[in-house]
Amino acid sequence: NGNQPTPGPEFGATGLQPQDQPTDQTLTTRQGHPLYNNQNVRTVGSRGPTTLENYPFLEKISHFDRERIPERVVHARGAGAHGVFEAYGTVGDEPVSKYTRAKLFQEKGKQTPVFVRFSTVIHGGHSPETLRDPRGFAVKFYTEDGNWDLVGNNLKVFFIRDAMKFPDLVHAFKPDPLTNRQDGGRIFDFISNTPEAMHMITFLFSPWGIPANYRQMQGSGVNTYKWVNDKGEGVLVKYHWEPLQGIKNLAQPEAEQIQAKNFNHATQDLYDAIEAGNYPQWELLVQIMSDDEHPELDFDPLDDTKLWPTDQFPWMPVGKMTLNKNPENYFHEVEQVAFGTGVLVDGLDFSDDKMLQGRTFSYSDTQRYRVGTNYLQLPINAPKKHVATNQRDGQMQYRVDTAPGQNPHVNYEPSSLNGLKQPERKAPDHTPYIAGNLVRQPIDRTNNFSQAGERYRLFEDWERDDLINNLVDALSGAEQHIQDKMVELFSQCDEDYGRRVREGLQQAGDRQKHGQVNNEANQEAVQKAEEMAHP
Ligand code: HEM
Repeated sequence: NGNQPTPGPEFGATGLQPQDQPTDQTLTTRQGHPLYNNQNVRTVGSRGPTTLENYPFLEKISHFDRERIPERVVHARGAGAHGVFEAYGTVGDEPVSKYTRAKLFQEKGKQTPVFVRFSTVIHGGHSPETLRDPRGFAVKFYTEDGNWDLVGNNLKVFFIRDAMKFPDLVHAFKPDPLTNRQDGGRIFDFISNTPEAMHMITFLFSPWGIPANYRQMQGSGVNTYKWVNDKGEGVLVKYHWEPLQGIKNLAQPEAEQIQAKNFNHATQDLYDAIEAGNYPQWELLVQIMSDDEHPELDFDPLDDTKLWPTDQFPWMPVGKMTLNKNPENYFHEVEQVAFGTGVLVDGLDFSDDKMLQGRTFSYSDTQRYRVGTNYLQLPINAPKKHVATNQRDGQMQYRVDTAPGQNPHVNYEPSSLNGLKQPERKAPDHTPYIAGNLVRQPIDRTNNFSQAGERYRLFEDWERDDLINNLVDALSGAEQHIQDKMVELFSQCDEDYGRRVREGLQQAGDRQKHGQVNNEANQEAVQKAEEMAHP
């Protein structure tokens, strides 16, 4: 029987033959043992049972069991590329140093390596790239002062202005916890109670909610940051990426045609363009505003549901980014890369934007869970400069971040025994004065509708038509009182906007009723036919 001992070519746990000399191509285990039999588990006879001391099999299968890390809680599906950012040295007609001392911007032509990850937001790691969703646009600049991450989206505004609401927003857009389906009824239940989302919804349900690919879309920091100069003076700043390939968005039927044949089209487009040497480029532009409340504006400058009007705050170019190299390994680079809004360099700072502050906790928190405690030691996340800390150990620590010549006994500071030294800051800190009562309150100037209405009127006809169709489609499944509430909100943005959605919903309702009547008539006919066939 098959359990008879069968002499084979095996030797020891790996099948190593003492006379064999491994080469660079030799398949090994992770322990470095040549793996002479990668086809069969070790069994008692050829029919088994399998033995448990079979280390090469246990190592292989248990590593496979752990191949996945948790996908990002949002922005799970992405594509990435390496490139370079080149500074102009100026902002508008002025030297950039007037506003920021960040070294990467200072000299004309100065180059800084970057890694970019584009993404969709709501659906899982292998979801179609044609879905209506904001697109992530995250850039890691490996500067001489350490890393700077600019974690943005394609759209320039956001759904909410308070970080407290983010998990609810995401839950409403993610699949229903019971049916596991994305559901317009749940989305608009939340949105109808979140009037600040109207500006973002107007963009999202128009063709701007489905960029044609990652190369032909804009990017934006969305939240407000600060620039700080060498006197320690700060200004508010918003960042925008403008694609030199032009902008292209899809109407819903175009997206559906692509999706029927290819649900990886954006990843493929980026990869193929870079392989073909057709390197995509974006210009980085900023808007600058003095750091105060600006009572003359009808919105709060720190409200991320608003655009800063370009006639008052012009877009000023500061540099250009070129993506010129595909990742060598998707998992190492695109999956394990970790961006965060807290990752700033000298000369860049936070504003008091409440969303920005909430985000800044969330990113590194999730990455410690998603990638691991020592995620910053991975090559894609580590700065391309020397790192010296007294942070030690933890899961998967890969190296000790020590300085050359540092006393190995000293992993604390201060010390007089040749440990790491706290450097002295030469440029003055930015130290804004802040005073007030600690409260939990919304901002005063909410102005939820006027920019959404303006956007509605600015769209081209085909964009407005697509917007109305998409809203009617998504709202059709919502309960009547939610539809009514949404029509009321659209009307507050623009009378015509509300009217068209209301009429669209009425027509869709009529069609549905008509369909039902037809269905009933059909069923009657089928029943009659059956009765005739089987009297
Ligand atoms: C990813 C939180 C708002 C852009 C993420 C991730 C979290 C998160 C936890 C996953 C990160 C990871 O696993 O590495 C939040 C919170 C927000 C917020 C709490 C609001 C309070 C925004 C806004 C934008 C944005 C307003 C656009 C400016 C992105 C992008 C990614 C991302 C682009 C993907 C980064 C990548 O490619 O790895 N966000 N987010 N998020 N978020 Fe946000």
